Amino acid sequence: PPSTEYQAENATISQGAVESNHAGFTGTGFVNFDNVVGSSVEFTVDAAAGERRLTLRFANGTTADRPMDLTVNGTAVQGVSFPGTGAWTTWVETTLTVSLTAGPNTIRLTSTTANGGPNLDRITLA
Ligand code: GCU
Repeated sequence: PPSTEYQAENATISQGAVESNHAGFTGTGFVNFDNVVGSSVEFTVDAAAGERRLTLRFANGTTADRPMDLTVNGTAVQGVSFPGTGAWTTWVETTLTVSLTAGPNTIRLTSTTANGGPNLDRITLA
């Protein structure tokens, strides 16, 4: 099946802002998470049941990792590393596997350090 893109700027943001001042994002902008533990974004995705490839597109213009916790439907799945990409305008992708149920699923990313998350452009489900 085709992959589906979900723009971060359209997701539910807690302790973050939609910005567009670093070129290279897709859609109309990206999410700049507040630099605090607990800043988060939640996507609602519609899926068929099963294992799916989840790709996260981000930039991190610092040299420190900006790890986040990933939860699916409220259950902690894994920590995700968002290492430095060299510049806030250098966007890269990281891919992992998630198990989804049929119908709407929530995918949430929550910052786990005081630096907050990276700048997040979008997620893609394939
Ligand atoms: C800079 C940058 C932001 C980024 C922030 C951060 O202010 O312009 O896009 O989110 O650093 O460190 O989180």
